[in-house]
Amino acid sequence: MGIWTKKSIAVLQAEAAGESTEHTLRRALGALNLTTLGIGAIIGAGIFVLTGTAAAEYAGPAIVISFIISGLGCLFAGLCYAEFASMIPIAGSAYTYGYATLGEFVAWIIGWDLILEYLFGASTVAVGWSGYFSAFMNQIGLHMPAAFTSAPYAYSDIEKYDPVTKALIQPIGFSHTGAVINLPAMVLIAAMTTLLVIGIKESATFNNFIVILKVTIVLLVIGFGFMYVNQANWHPFIPPNTGQYGHYGWSGIVRGAAVVFFAYIGFDAVSTAAQEAKNPQRDMPIGILGSLAVCTVLYILMALVMTGLAHYTDLNVPHPVFVAIEKAGPALAWLGSIINIGAIAGLASVVLVMLMGQPRIFYSMARDGLLPPVFGKVHPRFKTPYVTTILTGIVAAIVAGLFPIGLLGELVSIGTLLAFVIVCAGIIVLRYKSPNLARPFRTPLVPLVPILGILICGYMMTSLPKATWERLIYWMIIGLVIYFFYSRSHSKLARAEGSA
Ligand code: ALA
Repeated sequence: MGIWTKKSIAVLQAEAAGESTEHTLRRALGALNLTTLGIGAIIGAGIFVLTGTAAAEYAGPAIVISFIISGLGCLFAGLCYAEFASMIPIAGSAYTYGYATLGEFVAWIIGWDLILEYLFGASTVAVGWSGYFSAFMNQIGLHMPAAFTSAPYAYSDIEKYDPVTKALIQPIGFSHTGAVINLPAMVLIAAMTTLLVIGIKESATFNNFIVILKVTIVLLVIGFGFMYVNQANWHPFIPPNTGQYGHYGWSGIVRGAAVVFFAYIGFDAVSTAAQEAKNPQRDMPIGILGSLAVCTVLYILMALVMTGLAHYTDLNVPHPVFVAIEKAGPALAWLGSIINIGAIAGLASVVLVMLMGQPRIFYSMARDGLLPPVFGKVHPRFKTPYVTTILTGIVAAIVAGLFPIGLLGELVSIGTLLAFVIVCAGIIVLRYKSPNLARPFRTPLVPLVPILGILICGYMMTSLPKATWERLIYWMIIGLVIYFFYSRSHSKLARAEGSA
């Protein structure tokens, strides 16, 4: 039975109660705060950067359809997530839910997979931040050398040919860009890591301020941008496929959906605040689904405006929202500066949330014995999991310094999509295996909704390039090796069972 051992919900609740003395915000968050918490974690590099890349490379203006497909996948997965979050309303992530319901092996797979979401996610958003930061510095006349503000490697999933000579100008694979390192992205991660080691707790008030800032900017871009849309840019709305899979046409729309899926990641962060929620059973589902709904509407409108202001081929830049608004001419110049400042503050807060989430997951895994005890070490003075925070920061900074945002975003998307597929499958399995567990929120229309979640998320995964799949497979193989050679024999739960 070893690898299928489950952790009882009573044990989880006892553990959560033991840690709760650290929490200052005891049961203070209502449905609205939980929703803003979700929005704070969601709006980031996805909409501010990857929308441009995905429109330019894969879907054209039809990136709007990509957002709808991706939003539907998230809706179905979010409904499943809400059932777990209400069933086990303690601070946790999909890792904890997996351990309580599906057993240790599945929990390990999810936990290992979540590293792609949080650690690599932090790197991805930091690279996005660097694009806006560099644009802002240029704007105020402080020019930073290009060699130190972008990745030394570029990666392309599609071949590009010169339209006139038909010569191959960009092969599939890695190429050198001539840059040395993305220094701003690394410095941001180092700064955020330092804050987290010292023990900054993002307060709900600060988070609300950042959320208001981000949503205001998105609304300003939508509202003012619409006035300057050049409808010619929307034609053809679905550029014809070039003959390569994923390069425009339907396959491009689906690949675009998998890429902009990154923009939706973060609504699951709501579940980590379960212990601070006033009425978690009722409010967690509202927080998860509410933040998702708000962002879906904003994203669809934002994508329409961006591809209407600028031709999609002009959006493959590190700061596409700014570039789109620039196309409106001097009338919206004021908005350009606000966008850069808002993106700098808004994206930094997403990096902070992700760098905070990763050590918590490592910490839980170490406490369960699945990772070495050093991962669970808490700083004697700052009372923070400093070893994992520093380790996460170092790896995230190196990754952010070297790799381009497109490659990282796709890896984060495929990893998180896999976690969502497992969560959806978990709901179906549990309904059959433990039909009588108390479920304050029930995913509607089971098994239809989880099946649709699996199909849409799985379909998006299949549209991602082969190289992204290979990276996921290598990552999971490393995870399995660690599990079978270390974690399984060190698992506290398995040991307790063995000695019982
Ligand atoms: N959804 C988050 C972002 O777009 C991760 O940055």
